[in-house]
Amino acid sequence: MDKVPQTLMGSAMASKIRSAIDFYDRHPISAQIILAKLEATRGTLEGLQPDDLFPHDQDHYGGLAANDALAKAARIGIGSKVVDLCAGLGGPARYLAHRFGAIVTGIELTPARVAGAAELSRRVGLNGQVRMIEGNVMDLPLADASQDAVISQEALLHVPDIARAFAEAHRVLRPGGRIAFTNWVVHRPLPEGQRQLLWDGMAAATLIGIEAHAGLLRAAGFEIEAVEDETPAWGTILGERLRMYEKLRGEAEAAGTPSGHDDFYRSYVLFVDLVQRKEMGGARFTAVKQ
Ligand SMILES: C[S@@+](CC[C@H](N)C(=O)[O-])C[C@H]1O[C@@H](n2cnc3c(N)ncnc32)[C@H](O)[C@@H]1O
Repeated sequence: MDKVPQTLMGSAMASKIRSAIDFYDRHPISAQIILAKLEATRGTLEGLQPDDLFPHDQDHYGGLAANDALAKAARIGIGSKVVDLCAGLGGPARYLAHRFGAIVTGIELTPARVAGAAELSRRVGLNGQVRMIEGNVMDLPLADASQDAVISQEALLHVPDIARAFAEAHRVLRPGGRIAFTNWVVHRPLPEGQRQLLWDGMAAATLIGIEAHAGLLRAAGFEIEAVEDETPAWGTILGERLRMYEKLRGEAEAAGTPSGHDDFYRSYVLFVDLVQRKEMGGARFTAVKQ
């Protein structure tokens, strides 16, 4: 467990961190797969532009419009120093750099995703504006009051101690800086069996409600500016994604190739159902450091 600072966490927390890395190590979309797809359609990887990547490199619901909403909420503009917590393959970070002129630092736990993000940024000439750091959002490797904005999308559910991530976000923001993020929320307490399945299949370590998020933000020293419940929109998006996933699974089975990891599938079906029944969902939070 070389990537987890042992001084920071007990073994239960360390094992949750390890599960998030394992889950994203098996993720079906990698930098190599994106580049192979682009090479197949364009015939070459020469002259690749950020816009070529955007249909492929965003690992959250709502695509580029979701990035625009966070940029507006966090008041990101030319030269803003932004941290993306749990930055994945760096898609949102590159978009904020390219579209808004921000200087973005992505913090990402899974080493393969850090390397993939760096490769994609280099390919499109954004490596000067976007840097990726392998790290844990519960322990940000950034100086106090050094950032204008913090964003994150659909990732804090993997973080064992969200209060600690908010405290770190607060520490690295300048006074008046904003945090804007989306995350999974629960709208009613989930039975243990459902929590277990979401953990087993999707490494969902922390599932809390809208009010609990707001309470943790306030406890970290933020003033809440806006909370938007995105559950209805997510229900529609997730239904479409599940149908696409099931089609690919069916095609893989028909071709006799392994169709993927069953815990994930069962967990994903449960998640989509819970969101469509509005028992779980998603929300966008914006808060300002006093
Ligand atoms: C659903 S992906 C979101 C990626 C990105 N936000 C996007 O929208 O494209 C979640 C990412 O969070 C990362 N992650 C999970 N736990 C983390 C932690 N404690 N610190 C940093 N990154 C973490 C995972 O490795 C994964 O790449």
